[in-house]
Amino acid sequence: MTYDLVVRNGTVVTAADMSRCDVGVKDGRIIALANDLPPGGRDIDANGKLILPGGIDSHCHIEQMSAAGIVNADDFYSGTMSAAFGGTTTVIPFAAQHRGQSLRDVVHDYHLCAEPKAVIDYAFHLIISDPTEDVLQRELPALIQEGYTSFKVYLTYDLLKIDDYQMLDILAMARREQAMVMVHAENHEIIQWLSTRLLEAGHRAPKYHAVAHARLAEGEATNRAIRLAELLDVPLLLVHVSAPEAVEAIRTAQTYGLKIYGETCPQYLFLTAQDLDRPGMDGAMFCCSPPPRDEAAQEVIWRGLQNGTFQVISSDHAPYRFDSTGKLAHGEDADFKHIANGLPGLEVRLPLLFSEGVKKGRLDLHQFVALTSTNAAKLYGLHPRKGTIAVGADADLAIWDPDKEVTISTEMIHDNVGYTPYEGYQVTGWPVTVLSRGRVVIEDGELQVERGSGVFLPCALPDMARPLGRRVSELNPERNFGAKLI
Ligand code: URP
Ligand code: ZN
Ligand code: ZN
Ligand code: ZN
Repeated sequence: MTYDLVVRNGTVVTAADMSRCDVGVKDGRIIALANDLPPGGRDIDANGKLILPGGIDSHCHIEQMSAAGIVNADDFYSGTMSAAFGGTTTVIPFAAQHRGQSLRDVVHDYHLCAEPKAVIDYAFHLIISDPTEDVLQRELPALIQEGYTSFKVYLTYDLLKIDDYQMLDILAMARREQAMVMVHAENHEIIQWLSTRLLEAGHRAPKYHAVAHARLAEGEATNRAIRLAELLDVPLLLVHVSAPEAVEAIRTAQTYGLKIYGETCPQYLFLTAQDLDRPGMDGAMFCCSPPPRDEAAQEVIWRGLQNGTFQVISSDHAPYRFDSTGKLAHGEDADFKHIANGLPGLEVRLPLLFSEGVKKGRLDLHQFVALTSTNAAKLYGLHPRKGTIAVGADADLAIWDPDKEVTISTEMIHDNVGYTPYEGYQVTGWPVTVLSRGRVVIEDGELQVERGSGVFLPCALPDMARPLGRRVSELNPERNFGAKLI
C-alpha cells in the first residue's frame, strides 16, 4: 500500500499557504499532498476541518527542579499528554543546570526522565546558571554539536542569574558555535529593592509580586541584553515578554536591523495583575515572572503579534499545584517572594490563540500557524522536519474543528496541576484528532499511544542564530587599531 494513512478533504494550512487537498502519510512522513489520493491503510475524513501543523511549544518546564527545590507538577507523561490534547506535537522544555552541576550530567538526567514517558516528540534547551570555563569551552560546544542548540540564561533569580560579564562570555561562545541564546530579562536589583521595601512595610500578599516585578525592570534588562548582544553581533531571543517597554526595545532593535527575536505567552494576553489580587492566597495561582500587566499592555502584546515583533508564542508552562507541594510549599501565608513562579498552559495555548486571535480577526490563519509552530521550528533548528505540512516533513498534524465550542475547566485539562488560570473561558476551535509522525495520538477525546512513544529530536544549528556580520566599531579590527576581540 502506498500510504499508511490518508487524511482526506480537509483544508491544509501552513504559515504560507492554504489548499484543500488530501495528505498522504508513509513511515511517519508526509509523502503526498494532492487530491483524490488512493485509499491508505487508514483514512481519516477531515471534511470541514482545518489541518494545521501540530503546535510546537518551545518554552515549557516539565519535570524541572526549580532552583529553590520545588518540583513541577507535571512529569513527561502528564505534560506531553496535556500538550497533545491541545494540538501540540512537539515540546522543547529545559534541561536546567543548577550551580555546580555538570551540563552533561544534567542532560543525561533529563533524558532519563523524558524517554520512558513522553508521548510526543521533544527537544531540549539548556539552562546555563554556572558558565565556568569548562562549561563554556568544553561541555557546551560538544552539546551544541549533539543537537542541544539553544539555551536560556537569567538576568534575575538569586540562584540562576548571571551578570553582564558572564553574559558577554556566553554570547561570545554562542557566536562561535552558532547557538540560539534565550534570555529572561528582568533587572534583578530593581526587583530586590522593591521587594525589600514592600516586605518591610508588611506588604506580603501575592499581588505585590506584580509590583516588585515592575515593568521598567523588564524594559531595562531587555534593553541591556539587546545592547550586549549588539556589541558582540549575536542574535538574541527575549522570552516571555510582557511589558510594553520591552516590546518597544525589541521593535526598535529590529527596525535597526538587529537579529533580535521576541516570544510572548497567553498569560500576557488574557490575564492582568488584577488576577494576583484574588481573595486569600488565590492570587498565588497567577504568580509568574514577568507578571501579567494591564489591559493596555495586553493590547501592545497583540499588536506585537500582529506586526511581527514577536516570532513565537509559547506557554511557559511552569506547573505548580496550589498546595504544599507547589505554590504553598512555604505555607498558607507565605509572602510573595516565597511563592513558586509559573503558570500552567500547555493544553490551552493553541485554542486560546485561535479563538481570540483568528476567530476575532486579530490574526490570520497563517500568522497563527507561524506563531504557534513554524517559527519555533526555524528558531530552534527543527524546520522543515517539524513546523510545516510539506512533502518530507513529519506527519505531525492537528485536525482542527474551527467551530467547536469549549468551556475551559480544570476537569477537562489533562495536566497534573489541579487548576487552570483560564477557568470558565469560552473558546471556539479545538483539535479533534492529533497525529505525531503519522501516529494517531489523540482521537475521540482519548490518548491513543503508549508512554515513551515520543522521540528525542536533536536540533540543527538554526540559521536564525547566525551572526549578522555587522560589527560595532570597537569590535571591528579595521577601526579599533587592529584588535581582534571576537
Ligand atoms: O514564572 C515563570 N515564568 N516561571 C518559569 C521560569 C521562567 O522564568 O520561565
Ligand atoms: Zn539531576
Ligand atoms: Zn524565564
Ligand atoms: Zn519559563
